[in-house]
Amino acid sequence: MYLGIDLGTSSVKVMLIDGEQHVVGSASAALAVANPIPGWSEQDAGDWESATDAAMGQLKAAQPRELAAVTGIGLSGHMHGATLVDIHDRPIRPCILWNDTRSHAEAAELDAIPAFRQLTGNIVFPGFTAPKLLWAARHEPAHFDAIRFVLLPKDYLRLWLTGEHMSEMSDSAGTSWLDVGARRWSPELLAATGLEERQMPDLVEGTDTAGVLRPELASRWGMGAGVVVAGGAGDNAASAVGMGTVRDGDAFASLGTSGVLFAANNGFKPKPESAVHAFCHALPDTWHQMGVILAATDSLNWLADVTGVSQADLTAELGDTLKAPGSVTFLPYVSGERTPHNDALIRGAFAGIGKESHRATLTQAVVEGVAFAFADCRDALASAGQTVGRAFAVGGGARSRYWLKALSTALAMPLDIPVNGDFGAAFGAARLGLIAATGADPLAVMTPPAAAETIEPDAALAGAFAAKLETYRNLYPAIRSATT
Ligand code: XUL
Repeated sequence: MYLGIDLGTSSVKVMLIDGEQHVVGSASAALAVANPIPGWSEQDAGDWESATDAAMGQLKAAQPRELAAVTGIGLSGHMHGATLVDIHDRPIRPCILWNDTRSHAEAAELDAIPAFRQLTGNIVFPGFTAPKLLWAARHEPAHFDAIRFVLLPKDYLRLWLTGEHMSEMSDSAGTSWLDVGARRWSPELLAATGLEERQMPDLVEGTDTAGVLRPELASRWGMGAGVVVAGGAGDNAASAVGMGTVRDGDAFASLGTSGVLFAANNGFKPKPESAVHAFCHALPDTWHQMGVILAATDSLNWLADVTGVSQADLTAELGDTLKAPGSVTFLPYVSGERTPHNDALIRGAFAGIGKESHRATLTQAVVEGVAFAFADCRDALASAGQTVGRAFAVGGGARSRYWLKALSTALAMPLDIPVNGDFGAAFGAARLGLIAATGADPLAVMTPPAAAETIEPDAALAGAFAAKLETYRNLYPAIRSATT
């Protein structure tokens, strides 16, 4: 048996799989996010321990025998968070999360130092870890001076689980301190934020062993001795491991709260100016790219909030048959945008509203706008050297047939819908635990799910969607100059 632990932003999820990778149990416990000041987003690291313990307690109650048979654990977690620990391994302050924007000025400052883009292959985005440390040095010098280690969220959880200060490549690539091509910390980049390499955890690959479960926790959860903990992965790479998105050019489009177009690469393919994220993957000699849009289903959530109609009812009003884009255009930048604009200040817009426009017109425009944002990500990845010709579609938005057809037509590519099942980050983490415990070949383990169905682009509407994509793209500079 193998266990995946996914430290998500809103919950910790634990999942048990057997040697054939069948899911035999799962449990979760909720986590809260604190926003003490607008733009701040924090969690107490101690809450990750208690939520993990609560989820493990549920698993122990439901499946004690299976849990006792676990030999390998894998970890996944939300990325970019700054968890500062002191000489006693205690958190110095609440963790500053990936969606915290307090250090946007520090991010711009670091991004202007050429070595950051050169070595990391990425823009220093405000959510990444390094600018948070520059902020802490300036605003909380006593906290900064007490730092013994800077840990990513799932690596803090590992410290609690194993006593080890360890990390792995995929999550570390999102700190802005990793030389992503060479897969090692950059002393130069660390020094730019007043840190030294001794304050960073040692690095392994996600498939390697990076600790053994502490005896106290093993006996508390009724587990055996010597359970290994794999390096694991940041949540997007862990999801890709779960989806089998690991071979060059494999891709998935995730229509979640945020949207991700993820492609696996057999080499490091950075192009920071495209705002594509180029990170290490969770298996050796493999990298990945991501186009990230900050509000995919969250754009529809916004429309649901203002109309008082649920997301499902809004998309149901569109029916199942794809229509040609109408005259209304929506920019989904309700939380700013990463790819392709790297623009934290831009906000969304509807253009072309007429008296004939009704609720369904707005929903259609939102669905299309998000699909066009994915087309921007597809082109950003292509400009960074990775052509994506088909992808799995996952995430809550993929439950809408209309949205899937609009996305496939806007992307001009087939979208595969996986068979029913949970192939997310917790499953990917469990796969990494399996590999670390057994030494299995990663590519033999990380197979994609079967496709239940393939959505093909609507050939009759391809021209209309291509024309509307141009309208959509022309709107950004106009809205930018009109609103910021
Ligand atoms: C990736 C990113 C998010 C977080 C939270 O760059 O910021 O996907 O990992 O899940």
